[in-house]
Amino acid sequence: MRAYYEYPLLRELAFLWPPLFYWRQVTLRALLRHLPDEAPPRLLEIGCATGFLTRKLRERYPGTEIWAVDLSRRAIRRAQRRRLPGVHFRVADFLDRLPQRGFPLVVSMNVFQLLPQDLAFQRLRDLLAPGGRALLTLTSETLLTRWHRRLYRALARSDVCLDSPETVARRARAVGLAVELAPIEATEGSYLLTLQRL
Ligand SMILES: C[S@@+](CC[C@H](N)C(=O)[O-])C[C@H]1O[C@@H](n2cnc3c(N)ncnc32)[C@H](O)[C@@H]1O
Repeated sequence: MRAYYEYPLLRELAFLWPPLFYWRQVTLRALLRHLPDEAPPRLLEIGCATGFLTRKLRERYPGTEIWAVDLSRRAIRRAQRRRLPGVHFRVADFLDRLPQRGFPLVVSMNVFQLLPQDLAFQRLRDLLAPGGRALLTLTSETLLTRWHRRLYRALARSDVCLDSPETVARRARAVGLAVELAPIEATEGSYLLTLQRL
């Protein structure tokens, strides 16, 4: 998986290729619509890649301290070139324990389907402040995402979890998170999970 993500330009091109760009925009808009109105003092973005969503978060919450992590060193280097004030881009594996925790808000776009989910939800719960919220977008199994999974297996030599939203929601509940589910778009089966640490 790392090898694929070591090519940030490839990722940016993939995201700018019109059809993907369309789905990405739909997902992005849904996520932004569900963000809380009140600015949190700190927030964490998991799997920020080159900082596409991070830039929007910076605009939405100008005074918030933002931590944005990704496995890919090159993607983070590219993200840092955006020079977003008050944003700490860091190379980190979110599945390891991050030094920062107690976040009132965590955001992640299309990353959780790449992770071992039981562990990922445990880590997420540990990073949230009590009462803190997480907004995650994922995709589920459709004709389109089945093709994406094949491509991903070939390129990244890793798998994508396309389990149903209800199955994924059960995993989040199992670690003590309250869950709300909202569908986003049908062709790629995208949906938004809003989680809260009780
Ligand atoms: C599908 S991309 C989404 C990128 C970005 N959120 C967006 O929508 O533009 C998934 C990203 O998650 C990152 N990633 C995967 N596993 C990770 C982990 N365990 N910790 C941190 N980042 C991870 C990858 O390096 C990649 O940049």
